[in-house]
Amino acid sequence: MCGIVGYLGRRPALPILLEGLRRLEYRGYDSAGVALARDGRLLVRKAAVRVAELTRLTANLAGSTTGIAHTRWATHGPATATNAHPHTDTGRRIAVVHNGIIENATELRATLSASGVRLVSDTDSEVLAHLIAAAAARGGTLTEAVRTALADVEGTYGLLVLDAERPDVLVAARHGSPLVLGLGDREMFVASDLAALVRHTQQVIYLEDGELATIRADGYETRGADRPPTVVEDVPGDYELGGHPDFMAKEIAEQPEAAQRVLRGRLDERLGTARLDGLRLTARELRGIRRVKFLGCGSAYYAGQVGAGLVEELARVPADAEPAAEFRYRNPVVDPDCLYIAVSQSGETADTLATVEELQRKGGRVAGAVNVVGSAIARECDSGVFLHAGPEISVASTKAFTNMTLAFALLALTLGRVRDLSLGEGRRIARALAELPERIGQVLAEEDRIASLAGRFADAQHVFYLGRVRGWPVAREGAQKLKEISYVHAEAYQSSELKHGPLALVDAAMPSVVLIPDDELAVKNLGTIEQIRARGGPVVAVTTTGLAVPGAEEVVRVPTAGPELDPVLLTIPLQLLAYHTARKLGRDIDKPRNLAKSVTVE
Ligand code: F6R
Repeated sequence: MCGIVGYLGRRPALPILLEGLRRLEYRGYDSAGVALARDGRLLVRKAAVRVAELTRLTANLAGSTTGIAHTRWATHGPATATNAHPHTDTGRRIAVVHNGIIENATELRATLSASGVRLVSDTDSEVLAHLIAAAAARGGTLTEAVRTALADVEGTYGLLVLDAERPDVLVAARHGSPLVLGLGDREMFVASDLAALVRHTQQVIYLEDGELATIRADGYETRGADRPPTVVEDVPGDYELGGHPDFMAKEIAEQPEAAQRVLRGRLDERLGTARLDGLRLTARELRGIRRVKFLGCGSAYYAGQVGAGLVEELARVPADAEPAAEFRYRNPVVDPDCLYIAVSQSGETADTLATVEELQRKGGRVAGAVNVVGSAIARECDSGVFLHAGPEISVASTKAFTNMTLAFALLALTLGRVRDLSLGEGRRIARALAELPERIGQVLAEEDRIASLAGRFADAQHVFYLGRVRGWPVAREGAQKLKEISYVHAEAYQSSELKHGPLALVDAAMPSVVLIPDDELAVKNLGTIEQIRARGGPVVAVTTTGLAVPGAEEVVRVPTAGPELDPVLLTIPLQLLAYHTARKLGRDIDKPRNLAKSVTVE
């Protein structure tokens, strides 16, 4: 959602800030703005525009080497120039960009108004500029002023502050919303997301929650312990299209490599098991786990559902998945023998993060399955599995979803092998996992054929996705992909539920995608096709090679990886189907309407 960029150094700040904002566009936003300090004054431009338009609006602003910038996703008040960040105080001395939510904004606004301050925006963030300016006016450093102001603030923030009178310093503060400092050569960068930094530096410092940093061109200070910078693995090319028409196409294509990364060093084919050292659990502790519960939102929740199936199948440990927000608000009974897994690509999703905190408060054992190293959830969980999918820019999750399911297969194998999964079976699964990246490549090689089916979906008003047991979370993820990027209404159902209601909707205008893994339920799934065909409904069957599928008008086949792992492969054609449908409809694939890449508010 909202994005923050800051620069302080020896080069003109504006191009660096605008370029940083451009790299944060994928997160979703509806307005953008920038503030520079020049000759003791603030130069501010902001509007409900794309970054390209902001670049035009700022064409005449130059000559400053210190500035802050923001992309806003409207929460308090509509997307307007006034509500866009940076916000300033009445005297236009202090400029603030803010991610997060100030929970006592109403009270703070009332107090400020009562003391004669005229608030101009509808936002919660504006109060910060006024509070900091009031504290700065009483003397002391900018850092002291920010600290004083924040003492009155309740809520979450990633905050960056610029003082027109002190252009040699920026102050950053973090409480629940990520901020990362980039260390350059006599220059410093600040951002809410690595994407805005990696072009400039690989040396970064993740601010800790509750930390406040005073940033100067030659370094930074906090009250926290000195720590060496983290060297980030992301390279600038990860954030470039590299010849692909959009990031979703790039990320779908990257899956064989990404899958290799999540498996690398973690599979032991000889012993038919896996090693997930990041879980920090001994064999005895693994053996003591009596339940596994996956918690996440959207596609991360569906990936957790695939994971739960794998854990039950391979380890015979009861497992399930639940949307993080539901879990957090239903005052759950926390089971000390359960391993809770917080699943998140971004590591920033507010509901998933809050769930982790709730679990920790109640003494639950929670591990992260997170893609973004250094993200809030990764840091909050002191153990976990990194997904190593590489940066995922497109809003629709593809390679991170696949890597989640692979990480869960590794977990299931590990848990299985400390229980009753035999060496032979363990080896079979380990071998199938090792071969999966290549199998994913084989599915991708069928892209043209899958793309040729997209027309059926582009013309449809509604589409059903049907699966059972292993195919059910795949159907859910397939429907999710189609609806979010093509805006074609798609619903997933368990095939067995069809005749209990939804079958009434089936007619010639409503295509169904039926998942048919080659497993003991294949015959039942073939029966589902018959039920739909008997009502004149068109069917696209997605299955593995070798299984005869009579009745379906179109059949998409993936190579088999064995029944347990086939769900991973069956997801890939559904990504391509959604992608090509969205392309046919001319959608803005990487940035679907109303959606943001990381949902950092509830
Ligand atoms: C779907 C999608 C979303 C995310 C969800 C969780 O393609 O991208 O449903 O999966 O918002 O995001 P993370 O994984 O970042 O917690």
